[in-house]
Formats: sequence, structure tokens, C-alpha cells
Amino acid sequence: MSDNLLFIKKFFRHGTKIASIAPSSPWLSRATVRNVDWSKAKVVVELGAGTGPITKVIAEKVRPETRVIILERDPDFSQLLKERYSQIPNFDVIEGDVRDLATMLRERGIDQVDYVISGLPVPSFPKDFQREYFDVVRNVLAPDGEYSQITELALVYQGLYKKYFERVKFIFEPRNFPPAGAYHCKGMKQPG
Ligand SMILES: C[S@@+](CC[C@H](N)C(=O)[O-])C[C@H]1O[C@@H](n2cnc3c(N)ncnc32)[C@H](O)[C@@H]1O
Repeated sequence: MSDNLLFIKKFFRHGTKIASIAPSSPWLSRATVRNVDWSKAKVVVELGAGTGPITKVIAEKVRPETRVIILERDPDFSQLLKERYSQIPNFDVIEGDVRDLATMLRERGIDQVDYVISGLPVPSFPKDFQREYFDVVRNVLAPDGEYSQITELALVYQGLYKKYFERVKFIFEPRNFPPAGAYHCKGMKQPG
């Protein structure tokens, strides 16, 4: 089955848990990781990788010394990601929920990561889970680390990311279907 077909089937079955009708385009995938300094990154984590369009760009750009952790909750998506990426020595594809990210990283000897790249449907999370989610990110992201987030509604959720980060930059990508973009965020704020 093609990635597009699998994705649309999942969307009709799970709705806001998938939150998109098509995988990110190559343009959106590249825009999402444009902030990454590949020469310095020691650990990169991708959350909600789906069928792996952003994973593909990461695989093209990353150095073999950088550890890459790919997390996906859906069993069919994670199986597909394992088939495509788990043979790359510095890649680790995990089927699991982002709530358990810190534990899963600790089990692999990782305390801090340099880049979190999220394809998760964060605005669709219930409010208390949103807070819990950003606590998870704060817990693992290095103080000078960066957070990237895909979005399908240009600029609409800028306020949400500004609540959690000092600096938020939005990149619009009109070639995606539907037109979309990415937030690049730095300087995670302390809670309260
Ligand atoms: C909008 S899709 C993005 C897929 C892919 N990154 C892309 O750009 O095409 C969101 C993905 O997040 C996954 N997801 C949703 N909630 C999750 C959670 N709590 N933990 C891990 N993955 C989750 C979904 O299964 C889905 O694959």
C-alpha cells in the first residue's frame, strides 16, 4: 500500500490522533529541519514520524556520529519505519507514546537531546496533555537545544509555541498540500 493511502486510511480511522490527510511533502519536510546544524548535533529526536517523510530528510542529512531516535505510536507506521530505517546503525526506531520519551531515552543512555523535531498534532492534544507534553520536551531538550514543529495552519498556533519558547520563527511552505509550515523554537521557558 502506498504511504498516501495508508495515511488517509489512518486519518479516517483515527482523526485528530493523526491530524493530517497526507504525509508531509519533501518541501515541508526540508523546511522542518532547516534549523538543524548537522555538524554539531549529537542527538536528534523525531516525534510522530508517521510514514517517515521527515525521517527520510534526516537520513539524507545526518552524520553517522549523530544518534537519531524516531518515535511513533501507531503500530503500522512504526513497523514501516523499522523496515525502512532501523538498519541504519545510528538510527533507533521506537514504537511508543511521547509521554514515555524521557524513560525511553534514559534506557538508551541519553539524558539530553540537541533537536526535537515534532510531527505530533500538538494543538489537538487536550490542554492538560499539552502541558504534560511540553514538560516532557523541557525534561529532555538541552538548554541550547531547538524544537521544530510542523503545522498545517499557517501562523494560527504561533501563540501556543510562544507560550513555551522565548524565540519562535515560522516558515511558510505553500508547495505542501494543504499549504503548511514549520515553527522553529529556541529557549524553552520554565513553567509558571
Ligand atoms: C500529522 S502526523 C505526522 C506524520 C509525519 N511526521 C509527517 O510529517 O507526515 C502525526 C503523527 O503523530 C503520531 N502520534 C500522535 N500522537 C502520538 C503520541 N502521543 N506519541 C507518539 N506518536 C504520536 C501519529 O500516529 C501520526 O503518525
